[in-house]
Amino acid sequence: MSEEIVGDARPIGVFDSGLGGLTVARAIAETLPHESIYYFGDTERCPYGTRSVSEVRKFAVEAGRWLERANVKIIVIACNTATAAALTTLQQLLSVPVIGVIAPGARAAINSTRTRKVGVLATNLTVRSGAYTRAIQGRDAGVDVYSCPASSFVDIVERELATGAHLQERWLEGKDVFDTPKIRAEVAETVRPLAPEGIDTVVLGCTHFPLLANPIRRALGPGVRVVSSAEETTRELADILTRREQLAPDMVVPEHRFATTSENIAEFAAAGSFIFGQPLRSIERVDISELELLG
Ligand code: DGL
Repeated sequence: MSEEIVGDARPIGVFDSGLGGLTVARAIAETLPHESIYYFGDTERCPYGTRSVSEVRKFAVEAGRWLERANVKIIVIACNTATAAALTTLQQLLSVPVIGVIAPGARAAINSTRTRKVGVLATNLTVRSGAYTRAIQGRDAGVDVYSCPASSFVDIVERELATGAHLQERWLEGKDVFDTPKIRAEVAETVRPLAPEGIDTVVLGCTHFPLLANPIRRALGPGVRVVSSAEETTRELADILTRREQLAPDMVVPEHRFATTSENIAEFAAAGSFIFGQPLRSIERVDISELELLG
């Protein structure tokens, strides 16, 4: 009698306002090598971080329903802004489990800080929502949280990624294309309000920001640890799938698929492969009018 194979080979749904969430998708792919990822990037409507909560919630519902319809087994909102605006809404609406990146980011910050003074760099919407302060102080009420709105970082990342495929070559040569004098100056100006607060940890509360980790580290100095939510989110995801016996069986060779609202698939492919760390082989374009029918 053959033994029953336990597991679930369906993909993990991951979405973001654009390309930034690929920093989380990459951590998932590296840690869970048998899992297939179905990634949705709403590039055409990026950025989310300077929009209203109700608008971002509407976009997140559309993305969530789109992935649910694509038969994913769980959804990771790889966008802090959409997590702040819509995590509970999506959990209530959808038939599959939904996790966000803010609780994991908060855990990463708490596990790092010794002074119990933590900085948060995030989009304007995420900072305004107070979601990080609640998540951090919900786990340790004695931690002081200093939030710094930094939506301009999203523009920097998108601007640099739009410069094209040569980025990939320079990155492969070991050069950090985001660690330039111009970007260092822009980053230093934005994080300046955090300097006098005595923080020893800063959490990157936007999935675009790990790409700016080096200039952020330089600006804050060696006494400040820079943490992000990607690894903690992956840990939470692995834990949920393990307990639900929904990890993909070991013999599965993963097939990652990507979808974007961007008109420019070539640019999405070049920038996306660079962030994901492997070529994006299968990319489809999703029309916004199709999404709006799901809202
Ligand atoms: N990557 C998104 C986040 O984690 C934000 C980018 C945007 O403003 O759309 O918050």
